[in-house]
Amino acid sequence: MTVFRTLAIAGLLLGYAAVTSAQSAVDEIAKYRQQLQDGNPADLWEARGEDVWKQKRGPKGVSLERCDLGLGPGVVTGAYAQLPRYFSDADRVMDLETRLVHCMVTLQGMSLADATKRPFGSGTNRSDFEALAAWITAESRGTKMNVSISHPKEAQAYRLGEKMFYFRGGPHDFACATCHGESGKRIRLQDLPNLTEKAGAQLGYTTWPAYRVSQGELRTFQWRLYDCFRQQRFPELKFTSEASIALTTFLAYNANGAAFNAPAIKR
Ligand code: HEC
Repeated sequence: MTVFRTLAIAGLLLGYAAVTSAQSAVDEIAKYRQQLQDGNPADLWEARGEDVWKQKRGPKGVSLERCDLGLGPGVVTGAYAQLPRYFSDADRVMDLETRLVHCMVTLQGMSLADATKRPFGSGTNRSDFEALAAWITAESRGTKMNVSISHPKEAQAYRLGEKMFYFRGGPHDFACATCHGESGKRIRLQDLPNLTEKAGAQLGYTTWPAYRVSQGELRTFQWRLYDCFRQQRFPELKFTSEASIALTTFLAYNANGAAFNAPAIKR
């Protein structure tokens, strides 16, 4: 089956209308996005995230201010542009959310179950991760992506992520590459970036987290992958799982060189 047909079927299955790729529509969408960008409610998540970072919490009653995101304890500015990365104190590669969980457990004394009980928010059940990610990533806005794969465990995560990206499976035999391996594809009003090309990988990665207008929530990269697993009809992607970190490493590394530009705002 050609990728185009697969995509068309994917569109139907997902209840999406096929969309024209006419340039005028593209221009209109760009205009709409620009208008949205001017009043991005992500600010609210950023403010709350800074509060959460500084609050004394957990059984040990300490803040996250000594959390080491890779550039030293408490250094937030620019840290996200170098994540995921290998952390020797945990002897593993971690993305932002995984590192935050690590700090909640080791610094604040939370149980793993408590720390991870609400990865994503809905309505009044807000997620600390979405707030923290909004603030922390905003502190890397404008910084060039600079993810390393020089440590063997980083290289291993990258290779695993790459393998997963091209791995076909599930009831529709989809891989990530089925939807994200061709340029100029769109479902509804949403571009399907070609993540196999430099420009697409950069755009697709550096614009998350994003405030989702349709959901009224700020969503993190963990959520992005979680939702694409759902669209792919794969088993539920476990929050901060090795699989999620590997895919993030693959995509983040491929975005190297581009200026980080989130939290963004999307449909
Ligand atoms: C069935 C088609 C489909 C599959 C398979 C799929 N995605 Fe997606 N992906 C989408 C759609 C549609 C969007 C954007 C639209 C939305 O949900 O708003 C998207 C968006 C994304 C984005 C954000 C791009 C941006 O510019 O905002 C990333 C990154 C991404 N997908 C990664 C993946 C990865 C990694 C996989 C494999 C685990 C995957 N996708 C599998 C359909 C798919």
